[in-house]
Amino acid sequence: MFKGVLFDLDGVITDTAEYHYLAWKKLADDLGISIDRQFNEKLKGVSREDSLRLILAHGQREKDISEAEFQRLAKIKNDNYVEMIQAVSPKDVYPGIVDLLKALKDANIKISLASASKNGPFLLKQMALTPYFDGIADPSAVKAGKPAPDIFQLAAKVVGLAPEECIGIEDAQAGITAIKASGAFPIGVGSAEQLGTDIPVVASTAELRLPFLKRLWDN
Ligand code: BG6
Ligand code: MG
Repeated sequence: MFKGVLFDLDGVITDTAEYHYLAWKKLADDLGISIDRQFNEKLKGVSREDSLRLILAHGQREKDISEAEFQRLAKIKNDNYVEMIQAVSPKDVYPGIVDLLKALKDANIKISLASASKNGPFLLKQMALTPYFDGIADPSAVKAGKPAPDIFQLAAKVVGLAPEECIGIEDAQAGITAIKASGAFPIGVGSAEQLGTDIPVVASTAELRLPFLKRLWDN
């Protein structure tokens, strides 16, 4: 049996992946760079700085942006995003997530956060989910962001487990790659078309029930 579940946050626990997209889209529009939802699949799960690099490269603008301007743009995006998430509340937790967290707690299975977002702890608090988490991996403490395995390795470590003893849950291509590389068992939230046909993928978090996770682990 698995001993821990490593949760991504944005797009797995709540719909903040949409706010990230809207904030990046606004910044890109202001820079005259066109991005759409298809392009956004590449940004999901990716750190703030790496996302900005991808957007600037997409608009062939990476050369004419100084370090100070880069930091200024990253801050504009984050300020806009932070404003959007002030209203996030327990009502915004995706279906089935609270029941799953309760079931995991009852079964003594460790719960850890493996989000690339520096706003993760704030969001858990807004949704009243902090008490469920046995550990939170600090994204500023890892060398490489997703798709590198580091954040999932750290999320397992902070709850005293090896990644191989854990399930990782993700809605992003970069995140699934990171889970696989860490040695944890991946479950995708979204579509197999985006996340791959080689892993279990659920269309809705309502499907993430403990007996279902156990069956996937045993097969
Ligand atoms: C990830 C999101 O969880 O966190 C990305 O999927 C985001 O879209 C990344 O860029 C970093 O988040 P933040 O809040 O630190 O800018
Ligand atoms: Mg995500």
